[in-house]
Amino acid sequence: MDVQTRENQARNHCCSSMALRKVIALCITIACLHDHVALCTEIYEDSNQPVELRVQDLLSRMTLDEKIGQMTQIERYVANFDVMKNFSIGSVLSSGGSTPNSSTTEAWQNMVDDLQAGALATRLGIPMLYGIDAIHGHNNVYGATIFPHNIGLGCTRDPDLVRRVGAATALELRATGIPYTFAPCIAVCRDPRWGRCYESFSEDTSVVRMMTDVIYGLQGNGTPGIPFVSDRSKVAACAKHYVGDGGTQRGINSNDTILSYEDLFRIHVAPYVDAIAKGVSTIMLSYSSWNGVKMHMNHRLISTLLKQELGFKGFVISDMEGIDFITDIPDANYTASVLESINAGLDMIMVPFDYEKFISTLRTLVNTGYISMQRIDDAVTRILRVKFSMGLFEHPLADRSFSPHLGSQDNRMVAREAVRKSLVLLKNGKTESRPFLPLSKNATRVLVAGTHADDVGLQCGGWTISWQGSAGSITKGTTVLDAVKAAVFTTTQVIHEASPTAEVAAKTKADFAIVVVGEQPYAEGAGDNTNLTIPDEGISTIKNVCSEVKCLVILISGRPLVVEPYLPLMEAFVAAWLPGTEGNGVTDVIFGDYDFVGSLSRTWFKSADQLPMNFGDPIYDPLFRFAFGLGMGKLPR
Ligand code: GLC
Repeated sequence: MDVQTRENQARNHCCSSMALRKVIALCITIACLHDHVALCTEIYEDSNQPVELRVQDLLSRMTLDEKIGQMTQIERYVANFDVMKNFSIGSVLSSGGSTPNSSTTEAWQNMVDDLQAGALATRLGIPMLYGIDAIHGHNNVYGATIFPHNIGLGCTRDPDLVRRVGAATALELRATGIPYTFAPCIAVCRDPRWGRCYESFSEDTSVVRMMTDVIYGLQGNGTPGIPFVSDRSKVAACAKHYVGDGGTQRGINSNDTILSYEDLFRIHVAPYVDAIAKGVSTIMLSYSSWNGVKMHMNHRLISTLLKQELGFKGFVISDMEGIDFITDIPDANYTASVLESINAGLDMIMVPFDYEKFISTLRTLVNTGYISMQRIDDAVTRILRVKFSMGLFEHPLADRSFSPHLGSQDNRMVAREAVRKSLVLLKNGKTESRPFLPLSKNATRVLVAGTHADDVGLQCGGWTISWQGSAGSITKGTTVLDAVKAAVFTTTQVIHEASPTAEVAAKTKADFAIVVVGEQPYAEGAGDNTNLTIPDEGISTIKNVCSEVKCLVILISGRPLVVEPYLPLMEAFVAAWLPGTEGNGVTDVIFGDYDFVGSLSRTWFKSADQLPMNFGDPIYDPLFRFAFGLGMGKLPR
């Protein structure tokens, strides 16, 4: 396709009205007929050619500025047609909560396509790759299916289920025209005081390794070790955050992971071996350090270990402003940060705002010989390899036939199953000589209490609609209260009290109470927490209700919390983690349509003073051990 044709195609996608499009199309037709423009196809434009040949052909045609543009990822907030075209930008992202004005699939598709038009209007027409954090479903988008966060999925120990979660998430991404997600997080969280522990599948490396099967769901199955995205129902994935993000001192976000190389590899690197073998397209670096050296400038772990020894063939991307935080270089400055990070082996930089400063700094460092053209070519080769292998050159624009997948019933059924299988039953006492759970659907009166009983936002947790998440009916979903009302007989009276006093609870004369309490949403460092107690309102509700009515307590949290003092008050106790929009997955189990199958993906401590404490430690005195989980017996599992 020649430049003229491509430019016209690009402008087509910027026209605001069909009439204008028809006029331009007519002009093109006339021009082509008149000029008999020969449509030559360069090797890189020929999808029948091997990927590596297309990469080398295109690379050989690129200027330094076009190469640097491919290494530049900017936030949508600073992106537009002209920026994409004039700077040859290779990638755009939506950071947490960064959405178009309207949240319809069409608004997302138009936003992505209009920016893509700028990339296609460049001299070589290299399509840009639009990325977003779809880490538990397409969580920035109103109406998307929100799946349990990884801590809950880890409790399922079900690779097939997480593959289906990945596949559903990929479909919902494609419904908005987005072909790339910054997921899965394959952190091995070793200290639940870390604000991102819910993004980790487990404290146990072998569970995290098992869960990397989600990459097959997101990308499809390809040749082991080769970046691969099978078709337009799939997306490029991103294993993150390399490496040791979950091993920092005292769980302090972005802090220092102090370990021997052997232990770093055994605990934190191992899941990346699986991710690479499963064809993950990209790997994102961690803000954290290893033994005092920032990951964003760690040549040994990026270039030597990841690229050479482990043979990673995709591209390495920084975290947001990740190179700006390299502050431990003597007389740290931005130029030094660019120099150190690119020479360490980073391929794409999530700048994401001051792209002109990044581009000019990198151009200067190359032109003065501080960064070799060989290093630049390695980075661009990897980026183009991913773009060619996922078919982005052939299909750069949204396929609008995917629109119906956003929040589809099929996807919600997968999420409901994931909720069921992620629940962990930690206590089930006997009442009147029978186990308290399963609850009866035809009770006379049921009291549903707690701050988290009727709140989709709290069920979903962080990284939902906004970066930090929030309480309230922030998206479409089913709360636990909704689900209880749907599950019980029509003759059953469901009484809802968010924070009842003991007197109010007693007056309900309920047969039993379901108390749903937990944490407020958080993300990243905002979630770092040293005491890990249930918020006071939840504790008082447990005490007020469970002292008056036989109760099941359901904890909605991104990690284990101190619960031992209150266990004697409870007939039954269930960890539901951050289940997402499908609260009916909870009632499917507590009312006995399904049995509990979940087992703890993390050690449940008695007190935060014991931390860090992981399965296998010489001193191990948990309230509930890693992999613990009860069933109700004689029910479908
Ligand atoms: C954030 C997170 C990372 C995310 C990126 C883009 O700071 O550390 O997990 O993918 O920025 O939103």
